[in-house]
Amino acid sequence: MPSSNASADASADASASSAGTADADASNGPLLPLIDQYPDTNSFREEVVAGLQRTPKSIPSKYLYDERGSKLFDDICKLEEYYLTRTEMQIMRDHVEEMAAAVGSGARLVEYGSGSSWKTRILLDALTDVATYVPIDISRDHLLEASRDLATDHPSIPVQPVCADYTTDFALPDPPPSAARTVVYYPGSTIGNFRPEQAHQFLAHVAQIAGPGGGLIIGVDLRKSPDVLVPAYDDSEGITAEFNYNVLDRINREIGATFDLDRFDYTAEWDPDRSCIDMQLVSRDDQQVQVDGVEVSFEAGEAIHTEYSFKYTLDAFAQLAGRAGLEVDTVWTDADDRFSIQYCTVRS
Ligand code: TRP
Repeated sequence: MPSSNASADASADASASSAGTADADASNGPLLPLIDQYPDTNSFREEVVAGLQRTPKSIPSKYLYDERGSKLFDDICKLEEYYLTRTEMQIMRDHVEEMAAAVGSGARLVEYGSGSSWKTRILLDALTDVATYVPIDISRDHLLEASRDLATDHPSIPVQPVCADYTTDFALPDPPPSAARTVVYYPGSTIGNFRPEQAHQFLAHVAQIAGPGGGLIIGVDLRKSPDVLVPAYDDSEGITAEFNYNVLDRINREIGATFDLDRFDYTAEWDPDRSCIDMQLVSRDDQQVQVDGVEVSFEAGEAIHTEYSFKYTLDAFAQLAGRAGLEVDTVWTDADDRFSIQYCTVRS
């Protein structure tokens, strides 16, 4: 889990751009001081090999988001079956004035897993006087492109992109002295991609980053019928399957593994007891795969777990947040109660 705010050292580094690299390509837009803490290829290789040697096998889901993965994920967000994005965007549009009032003026807005920053634009358009916007994402080029576009459209908002795996220790730039408060923005129901224990740790970290007087605006998908949930994670066009296969392809490309994608099936299953969708790549037959000198054996039907998507009731989320030192202040939902956006404050 991430540590607290950037230490004085880390932020000094970042502004002197030794930890950070200034983005030198000005031709595409404003010059942005990217703080680059991208995990190196070694940790990719080590984490993938370790995950494939464990029982049950898994691949850390953050590795789904390389350049191609991030594009495929954007395509998922536009699918008819993937109700989450459009429902959340609609809730944003319907209640953005109340959300902006909760954020207040002069806030520092920190977004975890900013991706294309589509939803953030709705919020930023309604906010006056943003002290700074700090988008954090693991997909560096995608982050830079989105940050540049945003900075072009909002020349008055200082944008400080941070490329990092926010599930590990990483540093944030210090808030500008003028910042009235810190509000963390965490849309997309990404909180559901953590197991409950990790979700707790993440929210506790957020409470620490936001600090007393700070807040959290979080998108939380709500528990509902599997008839709606399962197709959202296993669409008829096969884009979600493609997104999952891409991680095997990436492992083949980046660490020279020998996965044959045709010998795996993609599955998404709902577990009502854990209130969770499990996404897996299931081996069609007995097979061996070479992964950087390590032989990984699969039995027919054996799965690689790629992602969880936990679904919460309003009560279950309020309890989770409460245990992490946050208090749910306002809940906005759509007319069908499919999705919620919640404003939480840090309990003093
Ligand atoms: N936060 C998204 C969700 O749980 C992420 C997501 C959507 C996802 N579809 C996916 C992750 C498919 C992995 C595979 O809804």
